Amino acid sequence: MTPDTPLIIHGGQPLRGTLAVQPSKNAALPIIVASLLTSEPVTLHGIPRLRDIHTLLDILSHLGTRADWVGAHSLRLHTPELTTTVTPHALVGQLRASITLLGALLSRAHEAHVGVPGGCTFSERPVDQHVKALTAIGVNLRDDGDVFHATRPRVMHGSYLFELLTVGGTQNAVLAAVLGEGEVTLEHCSPDTDVVDMVNFLNSLGADIRGAGTPTITIRGVPRLHGGEYRVIPDRLEAGTFMIAAVATRGQLTLTNVNPAHLRAVSNKLTEMGVAVTELGEDSLHVDATQRDLGPVNVTATEYPGFPTDLQPIMSALLATVPGTSVMTDRIYARTTHVPELLRMGASIELADHVQVIRGTSLRGTSVRGADIRSGAALVVAALAADGETVVDGVRHLSRGYEDLAARLASIGADIRHAEPEAVAVPPTGVVLPVAMD
Ligand code: EPU
Repeated sequence: MTPDTPLIIHGGQPLRGTLAVQPSKNAALPIIVASLLTSEPVTLHGIPRLRDIHTLLDILSHLGTRADWVGAHSLRLHTPELTTTVTPHALVGQLRASITLLGALLSRAHEAHVGVPGGCTFSERPVDQHVKALTAIGVNLRDDGDVFHATRPRVMHGSYLFELLTVGGTQNAVLAAVLGEGEVTLEHCSPDTDVVDMVNFLNSLGADIRGAGTPTITIRGVPRLHGGEYRVIPDRLEAGTFMIAAVATRGQLTLTNVNPAHLRAVSNKLTEMGVAVTELGEDSLHVDATQRDLGPVNVTATEYPGFPTDLQPIMSALLATVPGTSVMTDRIYARTTHVPELLRMGASIELADHVQVIRGTSLRGTSVRGADIRSGAALVVAALAADGETVVDGVRHLSRGYEDLAARLASIGADIRHAEPEAVAVPPTGVVLPVAMD
């Protein structure tokens, strides 16, 4: 696994070359959870080797799943029988995606006891829509403060109209209704790629789920799912991070293993700034920021297919280097932990009600710390563009979302390395480092 020591980055090297994007963490997590719905073996291709995936596999192993890596990114999962419906709550508390275990266990065993996901460092992240949707379609749910205790009838009937677009909420409600009898309709569903991918996976095992990617999803219960083999989609957030990093260094980059259609909002904004973005067929694209001076843009992060909230801090880091005034608004989360760190690098960002008014300037290296996956990535992008040396700490978070980030950036020309382990101060015994949930 990637080391967690700070990254030492000397900025100013334009990124150049070709990079293969990894499979999607956020698509893979609920698909791994969904594998609990069948007693037959499932082989998943395109599973990133990230800490969050390993944490989820530890949780599944506790529930009776046997997991074997059968290739670099291929995983065989087999849950012949659930050994318990009580999740290991400490592990569950580390992973936001584990809330979908509620739906999966309810489908498979009609009963679930799942730890309530804890807080997180970048924003409030309520689960009220999960609770309301599950309740509306027939689940009996009680929250004792630490644990959700839930049961469901054999026959599920009902409908729910989500009050807002929620990826995890939609996934949870779909999972709960897949097995058994009855018909459930969900309206105002998230059209996110990660919802569609999970549904495609479940349908490939024999589920009857229609409408994923549209506002209305209908689930007809089926008695059982069979085993199968499935390939998870490429990570559009990783791809977007590399596109933005290439632009921040005024470089040019070809990305392979991407779905350009998943990245249109990012491509459009970069194009508006003056970057040449070329889609090369169905699974590759090229970004060239060497031809024109870049100009400022206003960005609103919103639900898919809009500009992703996960790329908001990373795009802000880029805009901090682009002359002129850009305005960044995030309609999904109040993600601002990257802002004070960028200020320390010389950025000019005014924050009013979570809206960032960014006046582009040149950044300079210093020591900064990422508080979660995406703010860490934002600081790496800023460091790649900055003058001098930047030390980026908080790599523990970063490496939850990006596999071998330093080595892969180095392969396209970045001057980046991990600090030697002995050079890093060890926290005193008893100090518990915070866990940022994604
Ligand atoms: N929301 C509610 N109530 C709910 C559920 C959501 O108010 O019951 C709100 C959230 O607070 C947020 C919005 O609805 O403002 C959307 O949240 P959503 O449920 O869609 O997010 P999620 O499923 O918890 C996933 C990703 C996040 C990503 C968001 C938004 C995983 C594990 N996480 O979270 O990814 O930011 O969708 O696209 O898939 C990351 O990878 O760094 C990360 C945080």
